[in-house]
Amino acid sequence: MSVKSMQARVNPVYLTAKTAVCLMERAKIPGAEEIACALALDDKALLQNMKDEETILGNALVVEAKYRTMCRLIEASGIMTSVDLPCGYTPKAIYMTEHGRKFVGLDLPIVIQEIEPIIRQLAGQAENVTFYGVDATNYSSLKAALHDVSGPLCISTEGMMMYFSDDEADTVIANIQCLLSEYGGCWITPDLEYALQFCGTFQAVFGEESLAKLMATRDTAQGQSAVVALGNSFIIEPTDIPASEARAEALLARHGLKAKKINLGEHMPELSVYKQLAPEQIVRFKEAMRHCHYWIITLDETKGLHDTARFMEEQPFAMEYALEKGILHLSLCGRLDTISAPQLLLVWEKANHGGNIEGIRIDCTQLKYISSAGIRLLLEIQENCGRPLGFSGVNAKVKEILQQNGLAELNES
Ligand SMILES: C[S@@+](CC[C@H](N)C(=O)[O-])C[C@H]1O[C@@H](n2cnc3c(N)ncnc32)[C@H](O)[C@@H]1O
Repeated sequence: MSVKSMQARVNPVYLTAKTAVCLMERAKIPGAEEIACALALDDKALLQNMKDEETILGNALVVEAKYRTMCRLIEASGIMTSVDLPCGYTPKAIYMTEHGRKFVGLDLPIVIQEIEPIIRQLAGQAENVTFYGVDATNYSSLKAALHDVSGPLCISTEGMMMYFSDDEADTVIANIQCLLSEYGGCWITPDLEYALQFCGTFQAVFGEESLAKLMATRDTAQGQSAVVALGNSFIIEPTDIPASEARAEALLARHGLKAKKINLGEHMPELSVYKQLAPEQIVRFKEAMRHCHYWIITLDETKGLHDTARFMEEQPFAMEYALEKGILHLSLCGRLDTISAPQLLLVWEKANHGGNIEGIRIDCTQLKYISSAGIRLLLEIQENCGRPLGFSGVNAKVKEILQQNGLAELNES
């Protein structure tokens, strides 16, 4: 199995970014067609669950409004370094460099390997563009990516926060808080109100038929990400806006952050997709977007600086293994996440060649954290192994994560 297919197996969510660039191509966003062509994207396969052309149109409308408004807000921040986390396959690097900015594109390694050479070909100012493979939940990877970048940073997050568990969202917020403490700048994201933007858009444009089209959209995102919930305590729920807003604000406050909400309807530029809509649909859409906000998040200076020391102690991932009488003994160190999980998958595939592993014992004494990519892999291994995985030496955090995911058979010996 290639490195690429191992990366894809531990975290398939990158497929959602391929869908996004297909939609950007439909919305005639400059550069999207060239990128989709260089990636040889098959938009029929990627968009297949969006059953009709109208559902695709609704999605293109959401994506174009988001992309163009975000570019505008990044420019309006006045900050000259745009850090896109996650950058996906969008043409933002091209736009930002054409508009005099430095661009740092961060995403999972599988995405960066594909997009970097394409953008280097297409972007005129390729020296102002850098790309790094990271995992947003892994602070060391973010820090390494930004080692030669100077602040302030305008960090943009489009289409990522909803794919995380509560715990991962909390970790990413803490990581961004650390970056803002160190580099200065701001974090801009439409993600908190993504569901409001989708519901408002589809309701405005398709009226009573919007529900079925929203369901098809959700099924596509869930299918491509292998994530069921598409929400966490950072994300605003359309069914309870005041309470979920208060919860998200409290979460930010716990990390020494505060938010200013920017009205989408007031800041959205004219969109190309309007050509495919009737005038009354456009009026209703613009009105609906007045009920959505993008959040600009900054350090709350009144709260003082957050403790960043916990990150300084991060150990790099390491793994030892031995096979004895059909039992695979593993010892894991550091973080099991999207970046490190392919190494474990490789060992598992090698050791289990011929299906002769009867059990697995994992020594977690040095293991600090497991992200959902790590959990996905452990569940897959368990399914193929027959016996429940045995864990020993787990810390409180790892124990909680394992138990939440039904990997609770902890063998404390
Ligand atoms: C819906 S796409 C959005 C991409 C891009 N911002 C856009 O608007 O098209 C979600 C992206 O999040 C990235 N992603 C998911 N989990 C991540 C993680 N833990 N760290 C970094 N990127 C991640 C995926 O690889 C994918 O590119």
